[in-house]
Amino acid sequence: MSTAPLRVLGIESSCDETGVALVELPEGAAGAAAPRLLAHALHSQIDMHQAYGGVVPELASRDHIRRVVPLLRETLAGAGLGLEAVDVVAHTRGPGLAGALLVGAGAACALAMALDRPVLGVHHLEGHLLSPFLSADPPEFPFVALLVSGGHTQLMRVDGVGRYQLLGETIDDAAGEAFDKSAKMLGLGYPGGPALARLAEQGNPQAYRLPRPLLRGDLLDFSFAGLKTAVWTQLAKIDAGEDMAGDGHAQERADLAASTQAAIVEVLVAKSMLALKQTGLKRLVVAGGVGANRQLRADLDAQCRRRGVRVHYPELHLCTDNGAMIALAAAMRLQSGQAEARRQYDFDVRPRWDLASV
Ligand code: KG4
Ligand code: ZN
Repeated sequence: MSTAPLRVLGIESSCDETGVALVELPEGAAGAAAPRLLAHALHSQIDMHQAYGGVVPELASRDHIRRVVPLLRETLAGAGLGLEAVDVVAHTRGPGLAGALLVGAGAACALAMALDRPVLGVHHLEGHLLSPFLSADPPEFPFVALLVSGGHTQLMRVDGVGRYQLLGETIDDAAGEAFDKSAKMLGLGYPGGPALARLAEQGNPQAYRLPRPLLRGDLLDFSFAGLKTAVWTQLAKIDAGEDMAGDGHAQERADLAASTQAAIVEVLVAKSMLALKQTGLKRLVVAGGVGANRQLRADLDAQCRRRGVRVHYPELHLCTDNGAMIALAAAMRLQSGQAEARRQYDFDVRPRWDLASV
C-alpha cells in the first residue's frame, strides 16, 4: 500500500476550453485524504468562436493543439514541480467533440509514454459531478446531483465514486442550450448563458409567462425545446410593437431575458427538489456551467434551506470546463479502486458516452 503522495495530471479538451491541472492525493492512491489542487491553467476559446456564433469543431481542435503544451508548462511552474513529479496522466475520453478529444488524449498518451507513467481516460461529466470535492465545503456521499452543462441536463443519484444512477434527463435541449439559444435570439452572442444572466438582472422575471414543460407530475425528465419557440414568438411580438422609447425595446428585451432565466431556473429547482423527495436524500450537488448561474444558486439555496438539505457547488471558476475536475475524477477513481491507470498508450475517445455506463 503506497503512502507517498500521488500526483495526477489532468488534461481537458472536450469542447472550447483547454485545461491542464495537477491534483495530489496526499496519502497516495490507497489513502482516504481529500485530493488537493496543486495548480491549474486554462485557455478559453470563446473569443475565437464568437465570430461564428458557436463552437467550430475544426478550429477548436487546432487551438487545443496550440495550447496544451504551454498550459502544461504553466501548470508545472504554478506547482513548482517538474514533469518527473507526475505519477499518472489523465485526460477527458468523452463525451465531447471527437477531434478536440483526440488532441487531449493524444497529448496525454504521448506524455505518459515519454515519462513511462500510466494513463487514464475519464468521463467529462464525472469531472463536473465530482468537482465540488475540490471546494472548501466538499460534499459526502450519497447525494443527488444536478448536472447542468451546455450539452447535458441530468439528475443523478450518486452513492459513491462510479456509483451513478440516472434519475432523469432532458428529452431534447439541455438547460445550457436553452440559455445559449435564447441569448442568440436576443443578439447576445456566444456563449449566451452568462450574457443572458447579466441582461436578466435589469429585467422583470414576471413580465412574460413562458412555458415550464414537464413541471407537474412525478417525472424527473426535462424538456427545454418549447421554451426557445416561446422566446422567439415573444421576441417577434416585441420587435413588431411600437418602440416608444426609441431604445430598440431595451427594457422589453431585459424583461424577456429575465423571464427566460426564471422559466429555466424554476424547472431546474423544482425537479431537483422532487429528486431529493423521491430519494429521501438530504444532500444536493450542483455541477456544470449553468451551475454558475446566480439566480439558480439563490433559488436552490432558499429551497434547500427550507427542506434542511445541504447544497454544494464547485468553486465558481471550476463550474465551467477545466483540467482540475479531470485530474480530480481520475484521482478519486484511483483512490476508490474504481479504475486502474495503465501503461497502454494506444487510445480511443468516446464522443457519445453515457455516464451511468462507466
Ligand atoms: O459545463 P460547461 O462549461 O460545458 C459543457 O460541458 O457543456 O457548460 C457550458 C454552458 C453553456 O451553455 C453556458 O452558456 C452555460 O454553461 N453557462 C451559464 C452561465 N455560465 C455558463 N448559463 C447560465 N448562467 C451562467 N452564469
Ligand atoms: Zn463541461
